[in-house]
Amino acid sequence: MPEPSLDPSPASSTFRPATVAVTSGRPPHAPDQPLNTPITMASTYVGGGELEYGRYGNPTWSAFEQALGDLEGGRCLGFASGLAAVATILDLVGQGQTVVAPRHAYSGSLLQLADLEARGRLRAVLVDVTDTAAVTAACADAALVWLESPTNPALEVADLPPIVRAAHDAGAFVVVDNTFATPLLQQPLSLDVDIVVHSATKFIAGHSDVLMGALATRDDELFDVLKKRRDMIGAVPGPFETWLALRGLRTLHVRLERAQSNAQELVRRLERHAAVEEGRYPGFGAVISIVLAEGALAADLLTHKTRLWVHATSLGGVESTFERRRRWKAEASTIPEGLVRMSVGIEDVEDLWDDLAVALDQLLPTRA
Ligand SMILES: Cc1ncc(COP(=O)(O)O)c(C=O)c1O
Repeated sequence: MPEPSLDPSPASSTFRPATVAVTSGRPPHAPDQPLNTPITMASTYVGGGELEYGRYGNPTWSAFEQALGDLEGGRCLGFASGLAAVATILDLVGQGQTVVAPRHAYSGSLLQLADLEARGRLRAVLVDVTDTAAVTAACADAALVWLESPTNPALEVADLPPIVRAAHDAGAFVVVDNTFATPLLQQPLSLDVDIVVHSATKFIAGHSDVLMGALATRDDELFDVLKKRRDMIGAVPGPFETWLALRGLRTLHVRLERAQSNAQELVRRLERHAAVEEGRYPGFGAVISIVLAEGALAADLLTHKTRLWVHATSLGGVESTFERRRRWKAEASTIPEGLVRMSVGIEDVEDLWDDLAVALDQLLPTRA
């Protein structure tokens, strides 16, 4: 039986993002077609077609890639993890060329850059992404401008349009890690960014049960280059992981709306608590960072004193998790020791607050 092609979804052109999330990448509406794209477990295909081998393509990937591509406004490729997508993109940088990147980008992305620099592959220039003048000045020498906005875990926001302009004027291409904003809150390709990259492990899959990455671009030539590299390197996702991520993507808008409204309420209350020195929140999204007045010890105590909030790394799941970021050796030394990154889930906000308030109150000095 020929592989049923995906619905050439009207989603990308006419529907709003919530409808695209639900409808894009489905099998065609025809009698006896399943509503959902099934998981295709195949390492190889009968020869003579377009797919040929499991490293080159999979119908479950195609469904996920169509849906996320439609949301980002470009063509998407799935990867085994976010960092597999990051590595594939960084592999495009020519020998000895310069990459400008945020000093507070995700530590795993910065580790890759540091490793490539240590091996003489490229030169990394780290910048404060909130200092637009410094970033645009640094673009002059760059082959690639890597942005993450908001940054993890500092939650800094980059002013994309002037940076993209400066990068393109210098002949550099621009990548934005859109993991924290998701395509529902920020569509970098519409701002002329060349490649968007995601840890789909986070909000896109959304249930803390799958590792996956993705990228998207509007440039067909760049897409072909990236697809060729993925085929060659083999950093491809499993069909089951892809199916889970697509299932998660179907509810992204509902999860994000709830998680964001919880985050907005929680940050207001957190900033008023005496144990909290500083709350960092860009005004959108579902990640908050707080800096505790009493530093690392207080942060470690907080993350072990709650009943509902789970002490765990990663973010973007339906369940609320948090951690002290500097417990990781790879985290930037300019991130405060007492910074706790909080991934706000979709539970009842009053339960989330009650749990935090009990733990935070225990950090306050007791009066003699
Ligand atoms: C902003 C950001 N980009 C990329 C990654 C890497 O993604 P993965 O863990 O799926 O490899 C992460 C992981 O935490 C992240 O937070």
